[in-house]
Formats: sequence, structure tokens, C-alpha cells
Amino acid sequence: MSEQPTPSQRVTGYIWPAIGIAQAIHVTAELNLPDVIGDTPKTAAELAQQTHCHAPTLFRLLRALTSIDIFAQDADGKFRNTPLSDTLRKDHPDSVHPWAAMLPAHFIWKPWAELSHAVKTGEVPFNRVFGTGVFDYFSAHPEDGEIFNSSMRVHGSFGAGIAAAYDFSRVEFVADLGGGHGGTLYEILAVYPKLRGMLFDLPSVVAGADILRNAPFAGRAAIVAGDFLQAAPEGPDVYLLCRVIHDWSDADATTILQNCRRAIPTHGTLLLAEVPLPPCAHPSQAFGDLLMLIFGGVERTESEYRALLHSCGFELTRVIPVDAHFILEARPI
Ligand SMILES: C[S@@+](CC[C@H](N)C(=O)[O-])C[C@H]1O[C@@H](n2cnc3c(N)ncnc32)[C@H](O)[C@@H]1O
Repeated sequence: MSEQPTPSQRVTGYIWPAIGIAQAIHVTAELNLPDVIGDTPKTAAELAQQTHCHAPTLFRLLRALTSIDIFAQDADGKFRNTPLSDTLRKDHPDSVHPWAAMLPAHFIWKPWAELSHAVKTGEVPFNRVFGTGVFDYFSAHPEDGEIFNSSMRVHGSFGAGIAAAYDFSRVEFVADLGGGHGGTLYEILAVYPKLRGMLFDLPSVVAGADILRNAPFAGRAAIVAGDFLQAAPEGPDVYLLCRVIHDWSDADATTILQNCRRAIPTHGTLLLAEVPLPPCAHPSQAFGDLLMLIFGGVERTESEYRALLHSCGFELTRVIPVDAHFILEARPI
């Protein structure tokens, strides 16, 4: 029987080697090493040549990852893919490459180092480091914005889950506010052939909405550039905000929801797709909240959503599970 780790070993385990693992996986994704290896094992020198890296240092990275089963090393010294490194390949059906490219990227890693300051002052780490809010930063730094927007497409069947869990058959026109590149709306429109849709996001983001522009049902999909902090578009009868409200403080979330309330018809429906925190949050949820803190957002409990919605003129009517998320359905009061 294996012995339980001591409290000191458990705490050490959270710190070490976790801090190095996240960055090592990030660099692996950035260099596309699992794709470069493909199905043919390669030496560190061969990989260094193909990726324009420093061979002895690349070897140390590969050796470290091999110790946690991301890559394996053959007797002849060549590194090959494993089931774990395969998930970092871009063409893997369940690829986590965009997630690995985004979460430990410099624009998140540097703000994490400001957590201490944030806990002491309440200041938003991202804004402290970059002098601007995260979405303004992405507009000004399109390469980083692309890394972020691509990561939103991970677990890309999110829209299909929403379409399966929520009945849009009586809806005429749905707007996906903050819908990114339109992947979620694409999957909803694909399931409901009479439904019209509108993707609404910042200009620099809707520019990347090729999935909707090239869809066979592109005629049913309007693509609108706008700013929901200024106004929500009028016309749709359902307003969907997926993983949007958790990005914002109560003050900004109130502005967005009040703008929706002004635009929505009295018979309309507001749908938020979020992960309301249960009383005892799982680590992935509780630390997801810390990630939101880095950006200036917050994960809320169901009762906090209910109160926020009520203060903006909506009544929370149903909470519907969708995979790891929930749809919070609300109607204008
Ligand atoms: C966390 S992402 C969620 C993307 C998508 N809904 C999803 O679930 O994959 C938040 C989205 O809100 C958009 N956004 C941020 N500020 C915005 C604004 N002021 N007006 C419209 N969209 C905005 C971002 O560009 C981004 O696409």
C-alpha cells in the first residue's frame, strides 16, 4: 500500500514541479513539437534544426516532459509522441494545443506575478501590467488576440451542447454577444435550419469569423461589429452571452446587462452560459475564478447571478446544465 503524502509534501507538490510544467507544455505547444515529431521519432538535434532552437536546451525541455509522459525517449535517444503529447498536436480530435498556447502565455503569466499586489489592493493584475483592459490589449496586439480567440474554440462542440440542451425551435433570431469567431453560433444555426443568428463582437474579433462567412447557411448569419459596453443590438428575440459576464466586474457586467435589457423585446429571452460556483467549488472552478481575477472578472454563484440579473431588470427563470457549463435563462421583468 502506498503511503499518503505528508501535508508538507502535498503543499510542495502544488508548487513544484507545477510551476515548470505549465511553461514547459506552453513552449512545446508554441514550437508545435508534437506536430514536428509526428509519427517519426526524432533526436533533440533534429528537432532543434527544424524548429530553429538551441539543441542542448531543447533536449533538457524534452527530457523534463518525458519524465511526466509527455513524450517518450527510445533507446537510440530519439523522442516520440505519447498519448499525452498527441493531445498537443493541432490535428488531434480533442486537441488542447490552443489552451496550452494561451494559458501560460506571457500575457497571462506576467499578470499572475501580480496576484500578491491584487490581493492586497484589489487592483486588476492584467491592467496593472499592461496599462489597459484585456480586450483592448487584444485589439492592439492581434497576434496575442488570435492566441486567445483560438483557445475559445477548444472543446469546440460547446454550441452543439447548447443547441441540444436548449430548445431554439420557437426562436426566430438569436444574437450571440461576445461570440468570438462565431463557432458557437455556427453550431446552433446548423441544428436549427429556420433560425437566424447574429454574431456580435469587437471589430478585430468578428474579422476572424470566417467559419460563419463560409457557412452553407451564411445567409442566415449576420456578423456585426460593436461594443456591448456601449449598446446591444436591437432585433433578436434571444440574446446569448457565453462565457462573457464572468469576464467583467459587477459594475461592467451591470452595464452590459442593462444594455441588453434596453435592446431586448418584452417577450425576449436572455441566456447566459456560465459556470456558477457551487458552495464548495472544485479546484478547477475556484482557480478558474482566480484566472478571471487576473483579467478583472469574477465567477459568481447562482444567487449572485440571480441578484445581478434582477438589478438589471431580468428574472432568472431556469438553470439548465450543458456539459461543464450551465445556461442561466432569464426574462425581462
Ligand atoms: C471569454 S470570450 C468568450 C467567447 C465566446 N462567447 C465563447 O464562449 O467561446 C469573451 C468575448 O467577449 C468579447 N468582448 C469583449 N469585450 C467586448 C465588447 N466591449 N463588446 C463586444 N464583445 C466584447 C471578446 O472579444 C470575446 O470574444
